[in-house]
Amino acid sequence: MPAFPNLTIIDHPLVQHKLTLMRRREKSTNAFRQLLKETSLLLGYEVMRDLPLQMVPIETPLEPMMAPLLAGKKLCFVSVLRAGDGLLDGLLDLAPSARVGHIGLYRDPVTKRPVEYLNKLPEDIEDRLVIAVDPMLATGYSAAVAVELIKRAGASQIRFVSLLAAPEGVQVMLDQHPDVPIFTAALDRELDEHAYIRPGLGDAGDRLFGTK
Ligand code: URA
Repeated sequence: MPAFPNLTIIDHPLVQHKLTLMRRREKSTNAFRQLLKETSLLLGYEVMRDLPLQMVPIETPLEPMMAPLLAGKKLCFVSVLRAGDGLLDGLLDLAPSARVGHIGLYRDPVTKRPVEYLNKLPEDIEDRLVIAVDPMLATGYSAAVAVELIKRAGASQIRFVSLLAAPEGVQVMLDQHPDVPIFTAALDRELDEHAYIRPGLGDAGDRLFGTK
């Protein structure tokens, strides 16, 4: 497996354990959704590990002190619909004042390329660190288009978070957006002929929402 300079695999034991539970075919919709949310908290913790802090004066009940608070760019989470929403709630629990954007893409049946049907991003996105989320980084085409739309809206600092990635998708992102770091729980073997990640966990949207 090639080493990708744009990829960080979050190999925390809790992440790996929860991912294995999610991969299991018998996992219910309810359990899958809950596990994805729990995993998003752990992924988010790592993705935001290097956020800058500033020291501010506060008073505890006992004495004044200088204490760290988040500084620098504010956050914006962008969900790539629909499965991206499964990662959103956990991230918002971590950073409740973040803005939220949504990008909707469908796959053109002829060209197999993503076509935009929704692009709703905050107005001040250029002032924010953007964390785009989609549980499955498969072909990378949707991720690359989503990041392109985010860049066109003015953002310059962008990270991408997925639960699972395929080497093909990571390579597409490296070719088209080498400035965007990707965080994932696992890099799986390959894409199959239907663009599913193998061994994967199936269709993340269907597993999350109980559709077929
Ligand atoms: N999207 C999914 O939901 N699953 C895959 O395996 C690939 C893309």
